[in-house]
Amino acid sequence: MKSMQSFALIVVFWAALWPVSSFGKVEPPAALAGRVTSQEEGPMEGVVVSAKKQGTTVTISVVSDAQGRFSFPRTRLDSGGYSIAIRAVGYELDEPGTVEVGTQKANELDLKLHKAADLSAQLTNTEWLMSMPGTPQQKWDLVYTDCLGCHSLQRVVRSRYNADEFAKFVSYMLQTFTGGSTSHHVQKRIGPLRTVYAATGGTGRHVDTEYLSSVNLSKTGKWDYPLKTLPRVTGRGTRVIVTEYDLPRADATPHDAVVDRKGMVWYCDFGEQYIGKLDPKTAKVADFPVPQVKPGLDTGMNDIEVDRDGSLWVALFNQAGLAKFDPKTQKFQTWRLPKEIDPDARRTVFVASNAHEADGKIWLGGGRGVWGTDLGQLRVDLKTGKWEEIHEWADAAPGSPAATRPHGIYGIAADSKNNLYDFDYESEYLVKVDAKTLKASFYAAPTINSGPRRGHVDAQDRVWFAEHHVSKIGMFDPRTEQFKEWTLPTPFSNPYDAVADKNGEVWTGGMASDRVVRLNSKTGEFVEYPLPRPTNIRRVDVDNSTNPVTFWTGNKDGASIVKVEPLD
Ligand code: HEC
Repeated sequence: MKSMQSFALIVVFWAALWPVSSFGKVEPPAALAGRVTSQEEGPMEGVVVSAKKQGTTVTISVVSDAQGRFSFPRTRLDSGGYSIAIRAVGYELDEPGTVEVGTQKANELDLKLHKAADLSAQLTNTEWLMSMPGTPQQKWDLVYTDCLGCHSLQRVVRSRYNADEFAKFVSYMLQTFTGGSTSHHVQKRIGPLRTVYAATGGTGRHVDTEYLSSVNLSKTGKWDYPLKTLPRVTGRGTRVIVTEYDLPRADATPHDAVVDRKGMVWYCDFGEQYIGKLDPKTAKVADFPVPQVKPGLDTGMNDIEVDRDGSLWVALFNQAGLAKFDPKTQKFQTWRLPKEIDPDARRTVFVASNAHEADGKIWLGGGRGVWGTDLGQLRVDLKTGKWEEIHEWADAAPGSPAATRPHGIYGIAADSKNNLYDFDYESEYLVKVDAKTLKASFYAAPTINSGPRRGHVDAQDRVWFAEHHVSKIGMFDPRTEQFKEWTLPTPFSNPYDAVADKNGEVWTGGMASDRVVRLNSKTGEFVEYPLPRPTNIRRVDVDNSTNPVTFWTGNKDGASIVKVEPLD
């Protein structure tokens, strides 16, 4: 790396630097500002510019505007040496380097970009799905068989397996590794196999290995299709500051990240038996080992929630059961299932703890066999420790659409009365289970096979959820029993979760696109914010105590916690 001298550096006195934005607002003084240009495009909008102070775990990113201008406020960068990086698909920085930020003056950086030597290495999963030939069904099978769940599609398209070799390899891979695996944390399965794929010899999800070998490098050693890229963000999408906090365990795989009322961010690790707390003010992280209630079975967790009192609730996933963590005493309390409903294959993947005050009970989602074959959610009475297993689909009238569609509950959520909502990932259904009578009602979202994945209930008891398979946000209003749907601006985004903020705006993120998505549900306006690094965006959360609100998510593939602060 070259030093700061490699940048064309013009020093300006920061006191004189109070630029007025295109929105007419006075901007805070900059610690570091400049312009991004390339020969091909001149000034470039929508380029993510990142600054990471040497020796720290925090990366701050801003996005260039229509004039190619970017600016890091003084409040975000103190003095010291920063390494500079950019993200703009198809481009690289001419001369990567470091820059010294001082206390007195703002540095003016002239960032010049050139066409990337290897465009393919930069494509997101969304861009691979856009580029690949194939029917919607073939592409869909790729997503549905989770070929971008444990690693990115880069592994798939760069491979050289023919169809037969693929069948053998996929079978080995899916039987050997847990879903908590990532490229930086490969985890071998110990407990029973939870998902069956046709390529493993079963009758489960279909892996089309002919198709896989037609989009990789096996036939000609190159891709016979043009590589397509998403347009960079413009306008409001550039008005954002993104902060990435590296976790101390380099192999951490933060799945869910949630913010508590004190502004602390809690995450659960998808592979290892830890939860952790990030203090965004100091960037300090504390990890707490979660008890293994079923030693010898797979570790890792998929869902952590914070309740009104600030206690954390964790679904123990393959360890099966529930854990509560009290941040004051830093102690865990656990609830185990009775033996008769706790075979090795039992998993408790999701927890809804937001309304447990209503009746002293907590819902958990999961199953006790292979995915999709044995359904039934769980509820535990916190005082008595008594568990109930609810077979909600048994209430569907025989022969009715609700009874005959395939089912597999992914997420769950509770309303203010602690009634349960299940999200049916295998179809388009939401199921509501009455907390008092345990009677189930079935509601089909308008788009068939939309794949409701995870979601949350807002202050008006409306249910907001991600329609993963069709890249839409869904909303169910229990007063009218009607749905509304909004289509994300970027196809193949694959949103995982959705949450409404205090202003009635709704937030999600593309698991495949590395973009955070904000919806104004009144006007239908969407804003997409780009992220500085490949980020498998899953659970999303907002901190409503700030203005504008602050968005948080975990980056399980990048061992970091990501904060997105829109500027308007
Ligand atoms: C349960 C997690 C998981 C899922 C789901 C998954 N993979 Fe993998 N895959 C892995 C792991 C772990 C590795 C790396 C193995 C290693 O490095 O030893 C890998 C590696 C690969 C490789 C590279 C192999 C090589 O020889 O370099 C290819 C190709 C691949 N996966 C294809 C797929 C396809 C196609 C799918 C969808 C059918 C898929 N993966 C789904 C876990 C997964």
